[in-house]
Amino acid sequence: MTTPASDPILSLTDTRLTLDGNAGPVDILRGITLSVNRGETLGLIGPSGSGKSSLLMLMGGLERATGGTIRALGQDLTAMDEDALARFRRDHMGVVFQSFHLIPTMTALENVATPLELAGVSDAFDRARAELEAVGLGARTDHYPAQMSGGEQQRVALARASAPRPDILLADEPTGNLDGPNGQAIMDLLFGLRDRHGATLVLVTHAPELANRCDRVIRLRDGLLDRAEAAA
Ligand SMILES: Nc1ncnc2c1ncn2[C@@H]1O[C@H](COP(=O)(O)OP(=O)(O)OP(=O)(O)O)[C@@H](O)[C@H]1O
Ligand SMILES: [Mg+2]
Repeated sequence: MTTPASDPILSLTDTRLTLDGNAGPVDILRGITLSVNRGETLGLIGPSGSGKSSLLMLMGGLERATGGTIRALGQDLTAMDEDALARFRRDHMGVVFQSFHLIPTMTALENVATPLELAGVSDAFDRARAELEAVGLGARTDHYPAQMSGGEQQRVALARASAPRPDILLADEPTGNLDGPNGQAIMDLLFGLRDRHGATLVLVTHAPELANRCDRVIRLRDGLLDRAEAAA
């Protein structure tokens, strides 16, 4: 399961996504070729509707490409069945969704601890509590998502995604709902994952202060990468 450092940890080759809309098929991603190196931080920018969230979902194995291939840690995601993909996500990927996707019937603590338990971590609740403290939510562990602000839910989602120390963390506008100090704390947490645990980060962001800290920024436009800027 180890990949030499020079190998891309993620590589997409002519990856396409076409979905059925009400008025017929919609070409959402129209051939994306892109490599991300291990330990790299890639920023993904582009106008609303350009396909940023869709691309993240494909990279995370949460949506199936309708063309091309996606390889992650040397494995072909496009060839895996649902069970294999679910295991791969559990073992290697963390995803922070644009709309958080917290489980509404679970407290903040349970939301963060559950994936740790599923991964077999013995002190899952202690770890989860520490992760929530790291995002400034030590006083909100027993709150349900509906009892938290958007920015707080976002921080729980980030704690949940980062707690299992994923090889690859995909985050959709991770500082989008946060003000200065909280946004700074989230950035520190994201880059701490990279610096201390070697995580590879792919971040969708409109925030210049976050994009500026990325090793490389690529722009999507209408389902395509803007220029030949995708090669790592
Ligand atoms: N299930 C779906 N069926 C049909 N079209 C879809 C579906 N999901 C998304 N789309 C379309 O795909 C395009 C890309 O959507 P996506 O959510 O990836 O954009 P985005 O770049 O993340 O935008 P934003 O910055 O607003 O979040 C949009 O035009 C959207 O309307
Ligand atoms: Mg989006």
